[in-house]
Amino acid sequence: MSHSRLRLGQLDWQDELGFLPEMLDALGYNEVWSNQLGLSVAQIPGNLMYQALIRQTREPGPSNLLGRVFALSYWAPLKAVLPNSLLESLEKAGILRQRDGLHASTVDLVPVGGGYLLSDRAWGPHLGPDSVYPPGLDSLAMCRWTPRWKVESALDLGTGSGIQAVITAAGAARVDAFDINPRALQLAAFSARLNGSSASFQQSDLYSAAAGKKYDLILSNPPWVPTPEKIETYRGGGVSGEMISQRICQGLAEHLNPGGRAALYLEYPRFKGQHLFERVRSWLGPGPWGLALLHRRHYTALEYVAGHTTGHFRPDLDFERWLESYESNGIEGVSASMLFILSSQSDWEMEREGVFPLSDQSQAVDQWLETKQLEVGRFQRQTRLHWPEGPFADHPLD
Ligand SMILES: C[S@@+](CC[C@H](N)C(=O)[O-])C[C@H]1O[C@@H](n2cnc3c(N)ncnc32)[C@H](O)[C@@H]1O
Repeated sequence: MSHSRLRLGQLDWQDELGFLPEMLDALGYNEVWSNQLGLSVAQIPGNLMYQALIRQTREPGPSNLLGRVFALSYWAPLKAVLPNSLLESLEKAGILRQRDGLHASTVDLVPVGGGYLLSDRAWGPHLGPDSVYPPGLDSLAMCRWTPRWKVESALDLGTGSGIQAVITAAGAARVDAFDINPRALQLAAFSARLNGSSASFQQSDLYSAAAGKKYDLILSNPPWVPTPEKIETYRGGGVSGEMISQRICQGLAEHLNPGGRAALYLEYPRFKGQHLFERVRSWLGPGPWGLALLHRRHYTALEYVAGHTTGHFRPDLDFERWLESYESNGIEGVSASMLFILSSQSDWEMEREGVFPLSDQSQAVDQWLETKQLEVGRFQRQTRLHWPEGPFADHPLD
């Protein structure tokens, strides 16, 4: 199957489109809605998750109708909640389809950080290697944890839906956002316009379009899944998972201004007897560098491979072959964490456990990075090596 064709260039921004975010928020389709929905299915195993989400949105209020169409790939009577002219405009652009008075979306439009982002569908059919990554727990954790530093320039490498460029880098006066996937750039540019962001989008293999340029802030949530197979561009990180992360770190000395910072969300392999910091320092080269790791979750190799080869998304991926590959490459598990790299006066390192953030925690993380001592929020002291509560395990903050 291939993606249905979007005609975003045909959208008329003079009509109601400019008010779409306010309209969706006022109708209750916002982050409060998505957090509540996520928490309500927290204990549900992945293979039953979709049925649970559909059941949880069965009350026919506006937020559920909008959520079913724009987040759950379901048909619903949108005429009851959005003006006809807006629906027609979205149909003309290929975002919506209509049948028998019901609407369905060809892409997702999800609420994040007070804005709305277009991506390929989290619950649609698998549509090939150029699918645009719908904001996941990784994207959300990065967006809610990364301080909104007030800087002149920022670069987002592997922008996907544009979440980090549009929301996380909102404190930067100028934002360049790169992706290797042209479809991602098309969707992200739409989202930037929808959310009033001036970020500029360009096709680039990592830093290739940034020759000679330096930035105050470099953001990236790159593809990091260790895999023996060729999988989607948004998640395949080669057999070690670090193929792209390594290249990003290797380019930081050249592309960060003095005193600059990098915020990377990584799901990185754990090798016996070697800490991530050792590899990162060898990739970065001479410093001094300050390194800080804020962990979201630690997976065993078995849990991680099970999650990434799950049959209801990709029945073609080979669970046994993946596990053998992890074993032969010495990958004992995978940790999901934010890595902050600060061009600094001295070398320093710190690390702590985190709890998945349900709201913006960026100021608390900023304080933690400043003082290197303060506790941030309610952090776990124990490393969890199991996954007892399903995909939304790391909650609540209470
Ligand atoms: C895990 S997704 C993250 C998307 C988004 N930044 C987020 O946080 O949700 C990784 C993104 O990196 C892009 N990518 C993969 N390889 C790349 C490369 N060599 N250069 C630039 N972008 C790349 C993919 O197309 C994808 O959009």
